[in-house]
Amino acid sequence: MLFRMGSRITHGLRCRACARPTVLLMGMKRIDKIVKKNGFLCLCVRELVHLYYARMFGVSADEFDQIETTTAYNRYPELFDSVRTLISPRDTAEIRILSYGCSTGQECWTLRDYFPNAHIIGLDINERSLRTARAENTDAKIEFFRSTPENLVDHGPYDLIFALSVLCRWPETQFVNDASRLYPFEKFDETIALFDVSLSRGGLMVILNANYHFSDTQVSGRYEPLVGIGLSQHECVHKFSTNNQKLREGAPIEWIFKKIATEHTV
Ligand SMILES: C[S@@+](CC[C@H](N)C(=O)[O-])C[C@H]1O[C@@H](n2cnc3c(N)ncnc32)[C@H](O)[C@@H]1O
Repeated sequence: MLFRMGSRITHGLRCRACARPTVLLMGMKRIDKIVKKNGFLCLCVRELVHLYYARMFGVSADEFDQIETTTAYNRYPELFDSVRTLISPRDTAEIRILSYGCSTGQECWTLRDYFPNAHIIGLDINERSLRTARAENTDAKIEFFRSTPENLVDHGPYDLIFALSVLCRWPETQFVNDASRLYPFEKFDETIALFDVSLSRGGLMVILNANYHFSDTQVSGRYEPLVGIGLSQHECVHKFSTNNQKLREGAPIEWIFKKIATEHTV
């Protein structure tokens, strides 16, 4: 974030919160002193809101993946359609679905319309969003819980796991070449490993707008990618390597992964 104070320009600073390069236009001695003493400038409103939530709801700031809570009913129709087609033989059976990062619930209500008999679990880290979701929910087979590793695992196993626009930091990562301070690969890899533990064999993991490639994760050898139609239009998040460096060109992006083994197949 820019911090404009006067006439002199200092380069080379980065916002500690969002890691964007910061140009400091200095002029006020007192501010100069504070900046030099602390070695960084942090005036990132998004991050302050994030830290405020974290403190208010007793969540460690590290527990967050994406901070934004934007959502909508039927936000990715081609994706939901593709998944429904891929699992159609089981469509009428009672399947269990996880919506990880369900925000205020619209994704779960969308999933209900695509999978009428499913039991749907919505997890989110943001208690305020969860309160809204619970208050507006009238479906006994949709439940909302705070996102913790225990809740994720205990409410499984799932037949479908959706992690849509959550395993990332956006838009912050569009401004950095190194994502390690915002959303490191290890965090992505750990979350995918938890999904893997909770997904039934033959189940599908659906990942959209993540900062990393699923194919780089430890568990990817147990999965085969499936083709979905018209999904690339929804993908906007930059990809990074396993050492957190922005990829100019990377592996082709895939979104739907079928669990074909419970142990690594080499
Ligand atoms: C941009 S919204 C996406 C909502 C929905 N999946 C969609 O695509 O419309 C990201 C959501 O992920 C949630 N989130 C962030 N970190 C999380 C975590 N560790 N576990 C579960 N949800 C998380 C945020 O609170 C936010 O509601």
